[in-house]
Amino acid sequence: MPQVNTTRLSLLFLSFVFCSLLSSAAPAQDEGEQLFLNNCAECHQRDGKGIANIYPALADSEVVRGSGVDVALVMLIGRGEMPSFSGSITFEDMADIINYVRNAWGNSGEEITAQRIANLQ
Ligand code: HEC
Repeated sequence: MPQVNTTRLSLLFLSFVFCSLLSSAAPAQDEGEQLFLNNCAECHQRDGKGIANIYPALADSEVVRGSGVDVALVMLIGRGEMPSFSGSITFEDMADIINYVRNAWGNSGEEITAQRIANLQ
């Protein structure tokens, strides 16, 4: 049944193309979530609740709710056990992460731009 196989293959191919299109068009919020999962969740956990007495929660954190600049400074400089992310991720990615954590898990804060973070250097 070579014909069936070809149809299946093209369907598979089409859905692959469709999915890639969808993910490349992902809004900054999804991008921020993915970057958070890759860079921060190991310590702060994917639910933002951290681990008691080791990694502070970012959900309902005064620093995170307070201002994007304060979060950016922690990321640029590092703090205690937390490494600096300066140079290892772009200002764009930092902005996406900050805008994600400031608006996830019940947090709510205005957005910060990559330029604003670059100016803190
Ligand atoms: C290796 C573990 C680790 C990773 C990875 C990590 N952090 Fe942290 N983070 C910490 C620790 C530990 C502290 C507390 C440091 C202290 O106060 O001594 C902290 C503190 C913070 C604070 C201050 C919170 C508060 O309430 O004082 C923020 C904001 C923060 N981290 C954001 C992030 C973001 C965003 C990322 C990802 C880009 C990240 N962290 C990655 C371990 C980590």
